[in-house]
Amino acid sequence: MLNASFTVDPSFRVGEVDPRLYGSFVEHMGRCVYTGIYEPGHPSADADGFRTDTADLVRELGVPIVRYPGGNFVSGYRWEDGIGPRDERPTRLDLAWRSIETNQVGVQEFAKWAAGVGVEPMMAVNLGTRGIDAARSLVEFCNLPGGTYWSDLRGGDPYGVKVWCLGNEMDGPWQIGHKTASEYARLAHETGKAMRLVDPTIELVACGSSHLSMPTFGEWERTVLTETYDVADYISMHAYYQQRGDDRDSFLAAAAGMDRFIDAVVSTADHVRAVGRHSKKMNISFDEWNVWYQSRFAGERNLTIEETPRLIEDVYSVTDAVVVGNLLISLLRHADRVKIACLAQLVNVIAPIMTEPGGPAWRQPSFHPIALTAKHGHGTVLRVEPTAPMYDTEEQGEQPLLDAVAVQGPSGVTIFAVNRSQTEPMAVDVDLRSLTSLTSATHTALSDDDPDAINTMDEPERVTTRRLDDPKLDGGRLQAVLPALSWNMIQVS
Ligand code: AHR
Repeated sequence: MLNASFTVDPSFRVGEVDPRLYGSFVEHMGRCVYTGIYEPGHPSADADGFRTDTADLVRELGVPIVRYPGGNFVSGYRWEDGIGPRDERPTRLDLAWRSIETNQVGVQEFAKWAAGVGVEPMMAVNLGTRGIDAARSLVEFCNLPGGTYWSDLRGGDPYGVKVWCLGNEMDGPWQIGHKTASEYARLAHETGKAMRLVDPTIELVACGSSHLSMPTFGEWERTVLTETYDVADYISMHAYYQQRGDDRDSFLAAAAGMDRFIDAVVSTADHVRAVGRHSKKMNISFDEWNVWYQSRFAGERNLTIEETPRLIEDVYSVTDAVVVGNLLISLLRHADRVKIACLAQLVNVIAPIMTEPGGPAWRQPSFHPIALTAKHGHGTVLRVEPTAPMYDTEEQGEQPLLDAVAVQGPSGVTIFAVNRSQTEPMAVDVDLRSLTSLTSATHTALSDDDPDAINTMDEPERVTTRRLDDPKLDGGRLQAVLPALSWNMIQVS
């Protein structure tokens, strides 16, 4: 048995959780839209063709905001193709994923779906093949009440889209219309300026780096923010993590890589703020993050052109779910600067929700830590500094076997914790002395004798969370045992 300890104290305040930290992402990619959220003819489809079984799981996941329509897809997208009578919409070749795009779902359908499941739409504009004019027309279409060409074409109430991404991963050579930092920065600035002239209440996200390992990382953020500081509200971050070979120890410490990435972007943003004598702080929209086995995707790259191909439908294990839960701990730890985060993606494409055409929808193991964190991780984040055994990792150096964060809400404190040991349970001693009104605690965990266990269409509940024995809580000290390789939620009330 390993031993670890930490203190939870309301004075160790990081910041308030912005509920948009639990956002997600729907891209026109693979089966995320078609046969994911939308499948007319499916037994559960509503009158608009949306799968209500998927919608129920989206509600259960607790996602408050969903980014749309890409991703790489947006950089070749003509949003006008997806509006108006469906039988008149063109079928296009999508070059991002070399797929057939029928345009049967566009911004109108997405806005309707979002309203139905109770999520806020977050839109990206095409700064790959298009620019200012298409972007400002789209804001007019979505947000202006009426009386102009684009707003009248929409009909009905405006969608009130608040958050807008100025392109997607424009630093990536794979992006259609890839740009240098200064080419992108000028275009993003002028596009954002025009979009805000249409609707001054919108918030704008400038593209940061696609990953910490991008050769332009750091310099890209500096150049882009120097040019766009007055117009942007957020700089974006994207990161995907995977287990390489059998190096599970490094993978289990992926959150340390996310911490490092966030800290570096915050430092760069603060440098630009200082040099430019800006008063506002630039916050972060971590609008793509997840576990993604990109090494497997290499085999899928030689794509034949298909409609609704099965693309990057990663099947997640218990280990992947523990890492996803740990990445959420990292995001919470940075709640003072990370205001929006979007798990990429929502359905079928590297997603917590899977569906089968004409068949069921089910939860991947990662669904559970996401849903529970989104449900209970609200309030003030409290920093914890665990004293825990350390272990060596190839990718992340020496790291603690325990990672944890606490969130104080109106009825108590919720602790999210991960035991990264693959073999040993961990006895955790938590000092809660300054929170004397807390008298009872519950413990929910995700772990399994088989860390590679998965859920399937035929066995959709194989991996789920379970309630463990209530932790001991005595004289301001809480004691719990975290199973080996586990994600844990301890609620103290
Ligand atoms: O989420 C899948 C892809 O990953 C997105 O389209 C792109 O933005 C990122 O590279």
